[in-house]
Amino acid sequence: MEHHPVSSSGPRQADQIPADLLAKIDEAVTHYPVSKRSASLPLLHLWQNHFGFIDDSGVNWIAQRLELEPINILELVTFYPWFRQEAPGKAIIRICRTLSCAMAGSYELREKFCNAVGVDPSTDHHHGLPTSADGKYSIEFVECLASCGSAPVCLVNDDLHEDVTEADIPKILTQYAS
Ligand code: FES
Repeated sequence: MEHHPVSSSGPRQADQIPADLLAKIDEAVTHYPVSKRSASLPLLHLWQNHFGFIDDSGVNWIAQRLELEPINILELVTFYPWFRQEAPGKAIIRICRTLSCAMAGSYELREKFCNAVGVDPSTDHHHGLPTSADGKYSIEFVECLASCGSAPVCLVNDDLHEDVTEADIPKILTQYAS
């Protein structure tokens, strides 16, 4: 199959794949002997878990590994908000926007978080992950975090914060400042 790599610039993740990641990828592919394409999402998760995001070289590399076209991988990366094409901040603040949290003010809460760290609230994952200029914080919406009774909630890295109000924002930002 002829491949048409998407453009790439900067340090290439595909040139820095460690042996343990390669081993995990090889192992994951064995789970899909009939259709390698089905390994696309598992490989994207492995890649992002290791590098923090998926650059063009990663898209191309995974496509080649699965004998697909780069667009087959790129469309997954751009469709699923979970996947990122650029480096996130050290703390990723994920604010639930599903019904209970939306009714409890999560849209306003996200805007306050964005304003507090100086990022444009109008940016969404289709236009890049909003990240503060100092690289400390990224802010994004997510769907239900399974804590609807304590809305609004946000997940900061692996920590769930419940009943979050505007007054909690400085404390939360300080907690993840370093
Ligand atoms: S709606 Fe926000 S946690 Fe369920």
